[in-house]
Amino acid sequence: PFAKNHAIRGSFLHFIANPAAVETPAQSYQYFADGLLVIEHGLIVELRDYHADDASKYPHLEDRSGQLIMPGFVDTHIHYAQTEMIAAYGEQLLEWLDTYTFPTEQQFADKTYASKIAKFVINELLKNGTTSALVFGTVHSQSVDAIFEQAEERHMRLIAGKVMMDRNAPDYLLDTPQSGYAESKALIEKWHNRGRLQYAITPRFAPTSTAEQLTLAGQLHAEYPDTYVQTHVSENKNEIEWAKSLFPECDGYFDIYQRFGLSGPKSIFSHAIHLTDEEWQAFSDTDSVIAFCPSSNMFLGSGLFPLARAHCDKVRVGLGTDVGAGTSFSPLQTLCDAYKVMQLQGQKLSALDGFYLVTLGGAIALSLDDKIGSLAIGSEADLVVLDWAATDVQRLRMQNAKGLEDSLFALMMLGDERNVAATYVAGRCVYRAD
Ligand code: GUN
Ligand code: ZN
Repeated sequence: PFAKNHAIRGSFLHFIANPAAVETPAQSYQYFADGLLVIEHGLIVELRDYHADDASKYPHLEDRSGQLIMPGFVDTHIHYAQTEMIAAYGEQLLEWLDTYTFPTEQQFADKTYASKIAKFVINELLKNGTTSALVFGTVHSQSVDAIFEQAEERHMRLIAGKVMMDRNAPDYLLDTPQSGYAESKALIEKWHNRGRLQYAITPRFAPTSTAEQLTLAGQLHAEYPDTYVQTHVSENKNEIEWAKSLFPECDGYFDIYQRFGLSGPKSIFSHAIHLTDEEWQAFSDTDSVIAFCPSSNMFLGSGLFPLARAHCDKVRVGLGTDVGAGTSFSPLQTLCDAYKVMQLQGQKLSALDGFYLVTLGGAIALSLDDKIGSLAIGSEADLVVLDWAATDVQRLRMQNAKGLEDSLFALMMLGDERNVAATYVAGRCVYRAD
């Protein structure tokens, strides 16, 4: 099914290191202003400068001169079932969940409905240049079948899981420790490592699980150590107090997950805005990962994530749109929000920092950097083709851009799905704007 020996000409940008971790940012990336990328059987086999004789060497050469091609974007946190309630007015986390989220998620008991939304969401991801995502389903197994089926159809590398929650939510959305364990296990057996799909054990967050459920979730992760874990931590001040009051024997919110065997290198925690020094240390010690969701964090008034701190403590971070608390599927728009979150803390997020975060950084966060996130030889050919300018304002700004980094910054601040000209998954074009 994969494209054989396909060559693309264009401008190529990818990262080989974190711009914040090298002496000069220029050491962190490779840029080919007029480059050639060759794909065989869905993998990248060559990336170099374009040569005049390449046109005759590759008669079917796809000419994307003037467009910017990067590794496909990685979204490390999204709730696909919350798409239809994106932009729900007026509440912070706990009230927002009760008022809008839970009633919406109830509908995913219906497989037909779940499949309809799953198809919509996969299209939306691809339209925004996102080729991989770590996805929350709902409490219903069939919601996870629905999203995996749609991702498989497009050959996407996608990780998803069934929400486990057995208390503090409406009855119609609760599982039990036993059913949550058994259904998750069945989904692992069915989907984990099937093609490019992988499973994430998904306790929603500590307040909606009993100790018994968290015990079984940890046990399941121990039985299948290469599965992921995804959950939420320290997003909102009221949530933190509530979590601590429900688990008084634990030393803080993150410690709840640690005690139940849910932290570790394959565990991705969304938000982590208000961590204590001890919790930062624990993240670092356990090599646990954070999904930074700036759009959501501002929308729900949750707070400002201290990204620089994560770098100091060597904690891996990916970017999450967190739709439906996040208000955009676009990694570019989400980076625009990330920049502003950093500004409000007196810090910076350069364009290189930003594009690293949504490509190689995201892949590293998901322990997938041997497969995706860069254009290194042997990587899976997931690509996003971007127009530098798609609107009048963007065109005017780009005409006045001062070099590559300035152009990239303008793209990060002003860009959105209108800039995505095409998206490739495993070497095949799965979205084309025109
Ligand atoms: N914490 C627990 N569930 C959720 C959710 O659905 N969205 C967000 N943003 N935070 C959560
Ligand atoms: Zn979330």
